[in-house]
Order: sequence, then C-alpha cells, then structure tokens
Amino acid sequence: MKGRFISFEGIDGAGKSTHLEWYAERLREAGRAVLLTREPGGTELAEALRALLLGEAMDARTELLLMFAARQDHLERRVRPALANGTWVVCDRFTDSTLAYQGSGRQGPTERIRDLADWIHPDLWPDRTYLFDLPAPEALRRRAQARPADRFEAEDVAFFERVRAGYQALARAEPNRFLVIDANESIDRIRLVLANDCASLR
Ligand code: TMP
Repeated sequence: MKGRFISFEGIDGAGKSTHLEWYAERLREAGRAVLLTREPGGTELAEALRALLLGEAMDARTELLLMFAARQDHLERRVRPALANGTWVVCDRFTDSTLAYQGSGRQGPTERIRDLADWIHPDLWPDRTYLFDLPAPEALRRRAQARPADRFEAEDVAFFERVRAGYQALARAEPNRFLVIDANESIDRIRLVLANDCASLR
C-alpha cells in the first residue's frame, strides 16, 4: 500500500497556508494517515537550510543547490518512508516551486533544474498539485498586511509576475496533475473545490 503525494503551490501571499491544515484534516477524517510537511524544510537539517535560504544573501546557484539539498534530505528521511507505509503526504511546496522561482522568477537554468529533479526524484512527482493562482500585486498587498518580508518576499512585483507565469505554464503542461485554484474566490468556495477534489483522490 502506497500513500498519495499532494503538493500546494503558488506565489507568496496567494493563500495556500490558510487551507493546508484544513485539507490535511479532511484526509484524516476520511481515514487516511497524513504527514503535513513543507519545503524547504520538513527535517531538522532541511529546516536549518530553510533558515539560510530565507535569511542569508547568496548567489542563484547556491540557492538552487541548497533547495535540492534540503529536498533530498526531506525525501530520504520523511517523505519516502511515509509514502511507503501508506501515509498520505501533503507538502507545502515541492519541485514546481523550484521551476517557478529559481527557473522563471530568477530566470535560471530550467534544464538543469529538470536534471536535478530527475536525479533526486526520478520516480516521484505529486499525484495532485493545487496551484493557488493570484495576480502578483494582490498577493503583495496580502503579504504586506500579514508579515515582514523574507528574502524571497522582498523581490519586486515583476519577479512574482514571472513566478506566476511559470506556474501557469507548468499547470498547462500537466493538466491532469494540476488543479488551478482562483485564489480570489472566498475561503468557503475554495474549500468546496478542495473538498470535492480530495474526495475524488483514491
Ligand atoms: P513559504 O513561504 O511558502 O514557506 O516558502 C518559502 C519560500 O521559498 C517561498 O518564498 C518560495 C521559496 N522557494 C523557492 O524559491 N524554491 C523552492 O524550491 C521552494 C520549495 C521554495
């Protein structure tokens, strides 16, 4: 018995965090064992890398490689063992974030990102990815009200426009894996969409 792997994606401020706990709870109510986790992070080592990634100045290659270092540790120690014992893994961000942020946002080497993904997790992509889609200026407005900016959130609107466009292209390329959620909809409406989709996953 293998668990399902589900990821939540979107630009900072699009609102995915509002729904993660709630979504994991729906799965638990349906009788699933659930691991709710995040990237970068999810293990002691990966959380330490996260603190560096979000706080320390670094060049784009260092950033990309640290993202994958954190991912490798997280997959090895938490995600793969959980899936193997039938636990459903709900992950706040995964490699689509790297393609969108380090690829589209930073205008980095998408082919190398794909190569790293093929090396680190050739056999593993999410079964379902929810993309919270919101215009960058609206996401910025929401973030400004919620919290001080980290190193990524301090990027300008043009950066987040590129990240958003990158995500939209990923969703178009894999319509069966992605479910695009209009993050301008009400919380209740979004939860209805999530609940219906969650019930359809087997
Ligand atoms: P969070 O604020 O959603 O927890 O995510 C942390 C930040 O890390 C967010 O701004 C997106 C960024 N990030 C990347 O740039 N590349 C990645 O591969 C991942 C997982 C996150």
